[in-house]
Amino acid sequence: MAASEPRKIFLTGASSGIGLETARLLTQHGCEVWGTSRDILRLPQVPGFHPVRMDLTSFDSIREGFAEALREAGAFEALINNAGDGAFGPLETMPAEMVREQFQVLVDAPLELIRLALPKMRERDRGVILNVTSLAAQFPIPFMAPYSAAKSALSSFTQGLRVELSNTSIHVVELRPGDIQTLFHERTKQATAAASTEDQRRLKAAWDTQVRNMVAAPPPERVARAVLRVITVSNPPPVLVVGGFFQARVTPLGARLLPLRLLEWALRRYYRL
Ligand SMILES: NC(=O)c1ccc[n+]([C@@H]2O[C@H](COP(=O)([O-])OP(=O)(O)OC[C@H]3O[C@@H](n4cnc5c(N)ncnc54)[C@H](OP(=O)(O)O)[C@@H]3O)[C@@H](O)[C@H]2O)c1
Repeated sequence: MAASEPRKIFLTGASSGIGLETARLLTQHGCEVWGTSRDILRLPQVPGFHPVRMDLTSFDSIREGFAEALREAGAFEALINNAGDGAFGPLETMPAEMVREQFQVLVDAPLELIRLALPKMRERDRGVILNVTSLAAQFPIPFMAPYSAAKSALSSFTQGLRVELSNTSIHVVELRPGDIQTLFHERTKQATAAASTEDQRRLKAAWDTQVRNMVAAPPPERVARAVLRVITVSNPPPVLVVGGFFQARVTPLGARLLPLRLLEWALRRYYRL
């Protein structure tokens, strides 16, 4: 790439939260961003931003949207798999379709986009694949086990792919946010409530903890700045945890040092279960 040529980035979920702030920051720093939403009217209208309609529950939509963006861009310097949504509720009342959709949006869709982006990156022997997972990949959230499992799958996949591509100059990075103040929880799909009064109490306690954390969480700009760093440094770190001090610094240390029983006891206390 000529020094003056702008970096061309493909970013999913650019209409809101982390993706929206990332699109804004990257374009402010001279990148050209092809950003997706299911509804292009929700996407920002800023110089250097190219709207892409894409529904991650449909492989046809993924392939069509990416092919058109690639035709326009010629090649992408980075693919950022950011889009995602959540599903909350007891597994017994969560419809199988809701669980399946979590894996489609959070695992199958990013993998398909990587498949589509890789040939060009291999041809040029450069590029960055950045997968946004979650701290939930390491600390599964109660009543969001399918979401946590899907993020964990993407995390593991990211590590596997990094080793697989270690003979190339393509960087594969996992960005693992803790709680970040976005509309994510408001949009989280809710399964039918639990049957017993005690289970309903536990469900409410877990949800209230998440809402409380969200209110006190850092803004999405913090993640956007981390993304900017990843795509501009020559040798990005394999995994980045971004969030408040406790979640980003203390909890990963706890996961390494504490026995599982103690860790799960702490999690139960944390969620008041
Ligand atoms: N916020 C947090 O605390 C937090 C913590 C850890 C990880 N994360 C992860 O960070 C990523 C961004 O989340 P956020 O907090 O910024 O949430 P958000 O504000 O709700 O934004 C989600 C984005 O994903 C897109 N999206 C959702 N479902 C989609 C689908 N089926 N097809 C296409 N696009 C879809 C949305 O686009 P449209 O609705 O316009 O289509 C939107 O742009 C997600 O992967 C999330 O799991 C968030």
